[in-house]
Amino acid sequence: MMKSMTDTTVLSNGVKMPWLGLGVWKLKDDGETERTVLSAIEAGYRSIDTAAAYNNEESVGAAIRNSGIPRDELFVTTKIWNADQGYESSLAAFEESRRKLGIEVVDLLLIHWPVKGKYTETWRALEKIYRDGHVRAIGVSNFQIHHLQDVMKSGEIVPMVNQVEYHPLLSQQELRQFCQSNNIQLEAWSPLMQGNLEQPVLAEIGAKYGKSAAQVILRWDLQNGVVTIPKSTNPARLKQNAEIFDFELTPEDIEQINGLNRNQRFGADPDNFNF
Ligand SMILES: NC(=O)c1ccc[n+]([C@@H]2O[C@H](COP(=O)([O-])OP(=O)(O)OC[C@H]3O[C@@H](n4cnc5c(N)ncnc54)[C@H](OP(=O)(O)O)[C@@H]3O)[C@@H](O)[C@H]2O)c1
Repeated sequence: MMKSMTDTTVLSNGVKMPWLGLGVWKLKDDGETERTVLSAIEAGYRSIDTAAAYNNEESVGAAIRNSGIPRDELFVTTKIWNADQGYESSLAAFEESRRKLGIEVVDLLLIHWPVKGKYTETWRALEKIYRDGHVRAIGVSNFQIHHLQDVMKSGEIVPMVNQVEYHPLLSQQELRQFCQSNNIQLEAWSPLMQGNLEQPVLAEIGAKYGKSAAQVILRWDLQNGVVTIPKSTNPARLKQNAEIFDFELTPEDIEQINGLNRNQRFGADPDNFNF
C-alpha cells in the first residue's frame, strides 16, 4: 500500500481509486490542459480531477485519448456545477460532461458544492446515473458533516468520496473522522495551499528526508488516508509531487504537521458561499 504511484484506495463499492491524482483547475483549454495532462500521464499519474466549471473537459478527454494508456488504467473525475443542480438539470449536465470528455463511463462524478435546497435532488440524479452504469462511483465535494448527514438520510447510496479543501492549515479532523467511520473516502483539494508553502515546520521535516515542503504535505495526506490531487503545470514539479512513495513520516512528524492547523481556508466556506 502506498508504495507506488499506481497504488489505490478501495472505495466503498469496491472501485479502486489512485491515492495521487492531477488537479486541473485554472488550466486553460488552449493547449495548456492537454499538454499538462499528457506530461502528468508520462510521469506516471493515472488520475485526473476536472469539473464542468473548469471549462477544460474537452482537453482532458483529448489528452486521455492521445496518451496511449488504456482507458481502464486511467481514473477520471468530473463534477456537476452549481447552476446545473436539481434532478433533470444534473442528468443533462452529466451528459454534456460525458460528451465533452468523449468517454463512455466516467470513473467518479461529484456534486461540486452543496447548493442549499438543491443538493439532495442532485444526489438523486447521481444515484440514477450510477445505477444506469454511466459512472463507476459517485460522491460529493465541499460537504460538511451536516450536508453528508442530509444525503445519507434522504438518499439510498452513501457518497463514496468527499473532496474538500484539506491541508496543514485546515486539517478538519472531525470531518476526516466522520468520513472514515462512514466509509467515505476523503480527498484533498488545494493540498499545497495553492502554492503557499512557506511553513518552516514543513521544510524542517522535509530536510530530514531530502524532500520539499510540498512532498511532505502530500505524504502527510497519504499517511492520513486522504487521496490528494496537487496541481502543477511545471513538468519538474509534476514529477516532484509524485515522488512521495519512497519515504515515510514518523508519527511525531505527523503530529507536528497536525499542529499547524488554523482552520484557515484559501477557498470558499461550504456553509457560506455565493456562487
Ligand atoms: N472541489 C473543489 O471545489 C475544488 C476547489 C479547488 C481545487 N480543486 C481541485 O484541487 C486541485 C488542486 O488544488 P489547486 O489547484 O487549487 O492548488 P494546489 O494543488 O494546492 O496548488 C497549486 C499551486 O502550487 C504550485 N505548486 C505545485 N507543486 C509545487 C511544488 N512542488 N512546489 C512549489 N509549488 C508547487 C503550483 O504552481 P505551478 O503550476 O507553477 O507548479 C500552483 O500555483 C485543483 O486543480 C482542482 O482539481 C477542487
